[in-house]
Amino acid sequence: MDTTLLAATAKAMVAPGKGLLAADESAGTCAKRFAAAGVADSEEMRRTYREMLFTTPAMKSTISGVILHDETIRQKHSNGKPFADYLNSIGVIPGIKVDGGTRDLAGAPGELVTDGLDGLQKRMKEYFALGARFAKWRAVITIGEAIPTSRCIWANAHALARYAAICQEANIVPVVEPEVLLDGDHSIERSFEVTEAMLRTMMGQLADNKVSIEHTILKASMVISGKDAKNRASQAEVGARTVEVLKRTIPAAMPGIVFLSGGQSDVDSAAHLNEMNKRSGNPWPLTFSYSRALHFTALKVWQGKKENYKAAQDAFAHRCKMNSLAAKGKWTAEAEKAGK
Ligand code: 13P
Repeated sequence: MDTTLLAATAKAMVAPGKGLLAADESAGTCAKRFAAAGVADSEEMRRTYREMLFTTPAMKSTISGVILHDETIRQKHSNGKPFADYLNSIGVIPGIKVDGGTRDLAGAPGELVTDGLDGLQKRMKEYFALGARFAKWRAVITIGEAIPTSRCIWANAHALARYAAICQEANIVPVVEPEVLLDGDHSIERSFEVTEAMLRTMMGQLADNKVSIEHTILKASMVISGKDAKNRASQAEVGARTVEVLKRTIPAAMPGIVFLSGGQSDVDSAAHLNEMNKRSGNPWPLTFSYSRALHFTALKVWQGKKENYKAAQDAFAHRCKMNSLAAKGKWTAEAEKAGK
């Protein structure tokens, strides 16, 4: 294990004012998002869309790394350079999503477990050769009346830990992502309880599997009311409760924590992150690793049309800048409006 390389990668991923761009949507997810934005879907359209994002000038100052899909890490910029080489040339670290998506957890109605450990050691070596220096694995925890069960939490925590150990062996920084879904009408208190249970179990599994915390990044979901809850908690409460659960469960040795947006609006995602960073005394850098809240608006502006390319890049740049401010605790509602 090259701890010097792993430490340098992890540190650069959470550099001040920068965050990760999640552009690792599977072909299936792209098909759905493209359809919602009126964009015809094909491998070439996915490549063009990613090139539109990666060549946005604001990337350099606001994005530390990009999570790529297997298809994209094998694709090229139209100048002929593989995307991973192009990203390196602008000082952005290429990363790779390595999980195989979720499937039903046997005997546990409504619960999911993530696939993808088979053959992962071999694939990881190839991804390193293709330029990836960090990886992502997403586990999904659903809140419902009698779920999550402790079995579901354990199965997902165990898979995350086995994946993380494989990453570090290949000198790739693992991003461990236990996403507690926003779906449902649960309270923020319930989101807190489930997040706490998941993070505690995951940390235990990481230790049992000899994963070095100093060379791991957590990708967390925020502690937040369910999207159909009647009285949704305020932005300040989301910020405060999220930091509270993280302080209770995540050692200060972790080099950084990034967040997913999970279906929150563009503005809420920035405002919530800002709330966390306005406070002093957080033991780790807290930043973004958004997909939808960074570039779904840009996709809708683009519509797959050449004439909208620049306007889509502007829309993406605005989200990059707003979230960069939020990563420093300097985002304001006025700045949000000014860029439009
Ligand atoms: P969202 O920000 O759209 O939740 O996506 C982030 C991600 O990478 C989920 O795995």
